[in-house]
Amino acid sequence: MGGKDHRSIQAPDDDWIQAVRKKLLDWYDQNRRDLPWRKNKDPYRIWVSEIMLQQTRVDTVIPYYERFMSLFPTPGELAAADEEEVIKAWEGLGYYSRARNLHTAVKEVVETYGGVVPDDPEAVSRLKGVGPYTAGAILSIAYNRPVPAVDGNVFRVLSRWFALRDDVTRSSTRRKFEELDRLLIPEDRPGDFNQALMELGALICTPVSPACEGCPVQGECRARHEGIQAELPVKTRGKPPVPVRMTFGWIMKDSRVLLQRRPPEGLLGGMWGLPTVESLPEEPVPGGALRDQWATLGLKLELGTVVGELEHVFSHRRWFVTLVEGWCLSEENLPENCRWVEEKDIEQYALPNVYRKAVRMALDPPLRSHGFRQGRLF
Ligand code: ADE
Repeated sequence: MGGKDHRSIQAPDDDWIQAVRKKLLDWYDQNRRDLPWRKNKDPYRIWVSEIMLQQTRVDTVIPYYERFMSLFPTPGELAAADEEEVIKAWEGLGYYSRARNLHTAVKEVVETYGGVVPDDPEAVSRLKGVGPYTAGAILSIAYNRPVPAVDGNVFRVLSRWFALRDDVTRSSTRRKFEELDRLLIPEDRPGDFNQALMELGALICTPVSPACEGCPVQGECRARHEGIQAELPVKTRGKPPVPVRMTFGWIMKDSRVLLQRRPPEGLLGGMWGLPTVESLPEEPVPGGALRDQWATLGLKLELGTVVGELEHVFSHRRWFVTLVEGWCLSEENLPENCRWVEEKDIEQYALPNVYRKAVRMALDPPLRSHGFRQGRLF
């Protein structure tokens, strides 16, 4: 099947709309999960949940959300926090620019709107990190405004209800689905309706093997009627992540280890990690590129053995990492973005998962693929 299909949507008739609204909302009232961001309609709490839920599963988000809300229960408390604290609270959730953008946007809410998330589509959409989906979710759930909030779940549900083969990765499709959602949202319960669509997508109308027999709207679903639910939604395949070889250094001086902050822009921008260098497919000496790079920065290294290898997938990159140990023989001026840190203090730094895996490997002898400190006399 091609990605493009210009089958226009036949506007659903009023009886169909009423039936779907009622069945979906009744089902939601019976089956909604008791999630921590559903305790009340505080727009700040809803906003934080929606940012965390981007690209992250509900089960993973819950403990982070609870902790984040106890650390920063109000916009004022989040705005007053240091960026380091905010990133630390986000540690392990990934996609850290979400946390930085949220922090920036909450500061703006405090400075410009007196700490109250604005109840206005244009103002909300101007906040950093708030795209059309998040704006729609905040406005409909917290402020009861009939605004669409089309996320991946909603794309799937609507493409099946209407048997639409539009490629959901295209922005024109988003607009089409938003218009459709707008026709369906009831004035009296817009936030519940949007969340019910998401909930149906999460629990019943799943990507693989949807549970149509348990679906409250199976009788109204055109894909089910035509038996094509497994083919929808249509997505042109995103490009697979580009493989890259990296070397991390576990570089020691006495009992301390070298940490380095990544450049502010780009992947894991501004995050602390181990010294990192992109390496050649066949490095003649493991860690050679790292040693050469540090030599130019005034730090002379003696390389040790390869500690181990690990793999980590980001949305656009797949890192194949070799972790090499080394010792600092001499040092001139340590660059500003570097610190010597006692092993026991490393955990106080907000390290992204890929570096945490490497630290664990370095500190836990059984994880090492080569004997630690073998051949090295202290
Ligand atoms: N995914 C994104 N937003 C959600 C919400 N409010 N409830 C459940 N899952 C979600």
